[in-house]
Amino acid sequence: PSQHLVDTHQRRIRKLRLSITDRCNLRCTYCMPTDATFMPPQHYLTVAEYATIVAELVALGVEAVRLTGGEPLLRSEFPEILAALAAVGVPDLSLTTNGLRLSSYLGVLAEYGVRRLNISLDSLDSHTFATITHGQQLEVVKGAIARAVNEGFQVKLNMVVMQGVNDHELVSMVEYAKSLGIEVRFLELMRIGYACHLPHSQFISAAAMIRQLQGHYDLQPVPRPQDATSFNFVTACGAQIGFIASESQPFCHHCSRWRLSADGVLRACLFKEAGVALRGLDAQARQEAYQQVLGMKPAIRAAEVHHAMYQIGG
Ligand code: GTP
Ligand code: 5AD
Ligand code: SF4
Repeated sequence: PSQHLVDTHQRRIRKLRLSITDRCNLRCTYCMPTDATFMPPQHYLTVAEYATIVAELVALGVEAVRLTGGEPLLRSEFPEILAALAAVGVPDLSLTTNGLRLSSYLGVLAEYGVRRLNISLDSLDSHTFATITHGQQLEVVKGAIARAVNEGFQVKLNMVVMQGVNDHELVSMVEYAKSLGIEVRFLELMRIGYACHLPHSQFISAAAMIRQLQGHYDLQPVPRPQDATSFNFVTACGAQIGFIASESQPFCHHCSRWRLSADGVLRACLFKEAGVALRGLDAQARQEAYQQVLGMKPAIRAAEVHHAMYQIGG
């Protein structure tokens, strides 16, 4: 494209995280209160609006769109949204999901060219899983993971690690991922939304996780793209392990991401409350909005934000 979205810190916007609903069928302790309230579905952007906005952003150099939520597979128009984005010609379409409804969508995902799936899995113990998620369906998620892998999707697992909750499961998670031939990424608990209320003692740094894993594995660094969220290792036995250390080692200086909430607020940063509402704008006003959002990207993230990740796009 003639005109890329490059900010004053020389960061080029290449990736859009597109939330298509704020709803979720789990209530993870770090993410949502059990009595969470959601935006009225009338506030969602329409399929046509997502397509228009994404086409404009692709023309400005966006190369990758990751569908998120909430849980994106809860949006009833998910297949239509996917079809519309595929028709726009997004070079890299991917999905982040909790896996509960994934099995029945694998066909449509393959049909529209989605190859990469990131699946949240915080525990392999059904009791711990149920405690974290307020859901009972670990076996459903594991079943979906196995099917996705068998059907040739490139799957990564995301595990949010919390001291005293699931931090004793790092090795078993590595072994599980290795047995499936897929990558697992361990996430530091980010100080966003509901997670700001968790006791600080639950926080565990990537460095501490690495110390724990080094007792079991020889970790060899793997090069990653500059704007990756994770840094990665491979072990002699072939396990692929990543860390998303947004708290202890923020990766903002190479950030290439914007996010669009289900109701059409475009934000330059996960840790910035302010954004620009795109709903109702004409094409000219949207171009101005994109330039405005470009100017809103902070050099480095705020220490914490109180808006919830599920509301703005995870
Ligand atoms: P790929 O690199 O395409 O596999 O995906 P990803 O790591 O960007 O996406 P995923 O949805 O799996 O996100 C993993 C974690 O990284 C989630 O907790 C995200 O909220 C977090 N994350 C994604 N993008 C950003 C970002 O720009 N800033 C911060 N601080 N965290 C992010
Ligand atoms: N800190 C870290 N990761 C989080 N996620 C949701 N909230 C937080 C948080 N406060 C994770 C989800 C999912 C991914 C998109 O973000 O578990 O794997
Ligand atoms: Fe990008 Fe903001 Fe995340 Fe930093 S905190 S990596 S600037 S979205």
